[in-house]
Amino acid sequence: MYLNAIEEKILSGEYGEVLRKAMEVVVKVGEVLGAERLIDITHAHISGVSYFNIGDDGLEFLKDLKQRGAKVRVYTTANPYSLAGLSLYKDENINKKQIEIIKTLIELGIDPGSFTCTPYEIRRPSIGEHLAWAESSAVIYANSLLGAFTNRESGITALMSALIGKTYDAGMHRVENRVATEEIHIQFDIDSILFASLLGLYIGRVTKGIPYIKARYRAENNAMLNLFLKNMLASIASTSNSSMAILDSITPPNTFKRDDHIEKISIDEKELKYDVACQSDTLLLGCPHLSYEEIMTLFRSKYMEIFKRYGINKIVVTAVSNIIRYDVEIKEVIRRIRAMYNIDIEVLPGACAVVSNLKMLKIESIYTPHGKALHYLYNLSGAMPCSINV
Ligand code: F3S
Repeated sequence: MYLNAIEEKILSGEYGEVLRKAMEVVVKVGEVLGAERLIDITHAHISGVSYFNIGDDGLEFLKDLKQRGAKVRVYTTANPYSLAGLSLYKDENINKKQIEIIKTLIELGIDPGSFTCTPYEIRRPSIGEHLAWAESSAVIYANSLLGAFTNRESGITALMSALIGKTYDAGMHRVENRVATEEIHIQFDIDSILFASLLGLYIGRVTKGIPYIKARYRAENNAMLNLFLKNMLASIASTSNSSMAILDSITPPNTFKRDDHIEKISIDEKELKYDVACQSDTLLLGCPHLSYEEIMTLFRSKYMEIFKRYGINKIVVTAVSNIIRYDVEIKEVIRRIRAMYNIDIEVLPGACAVVSNLKMLKIESIYTPHGKALHYLYNLSGAMPCSINV
């Protein structure tokens, strides 16, 4: 791989051991993927923030980096933390360790106002920007909807890129690799988060790489349309390694190439698995995290009436951290919902329930319309996910 003079110096250790190691990791991954050079990035996003996922070893690794003076060189955001970050566990040691991870990441230079899986709600990348993002749901959103360029990094490679401000020029960073592998025709109108999710989980299972999706969306407003798209994309990324889907008439032109000689696949609503067998009195909303507009859309009476019919009396909402700007408005709506529907709502900015041990919080099962949560909840949290049609 060609490296410029500064990059060579970093790799030879002239700028210290931390940067040398970071450069070595990024160059090695790039060489494996056939990159001929490094490119500058504008924004890194790291995953692997939950204590339940990274444990003591992960925490020690981050503390070691901090002790050696590591600091990110570009704007960097981080994924949500587990519910231990809100001190929700009886085991004080778990809460303490999660808070230590958050603190260490902030000391490394990560935006303290981030901790979200929707970093594009904190800083929206422009078309053509190069990023080094981990978090599969954010990566596929950035490539498919925003026209940004990012590979699906691991937590480690995204962090190493954040430290040197660069990534390797390969994979999704090159337009010639952003070509659809099959054309998917959806035979029904997408009109709910659940069906957008089920469809995404299905597409993820049949795609060989980058699906070109032709679909009609029937949404009441832009926030709901965004919910359909982001849940479909997050679900595709849950059942596949895809880091992009080309959405007909939506994905920005010139950020992908067309190939008309690809397999055509048609998907009917009947092919989607919709399991209603399990029950709960609790609902999880916000996987990926909800924005203020999305929260307000889902807090409408029409949805509360559906939730009541399912027997729900508690809603846990995980959301992007910047919704605290609307704290007063949100609290007022929650007060009214409690009075009218007897439903308790807890909004948790910065946290992720899926990467938390819900069994330790005595949650055995939970309703959710989100495909990514339906796919991962049981294995990661121990709670059984039940699908709800909203
Ligand atoms: Fe976000 Fe957690 Fe879901 S990180 S996408 S809320 S699994």
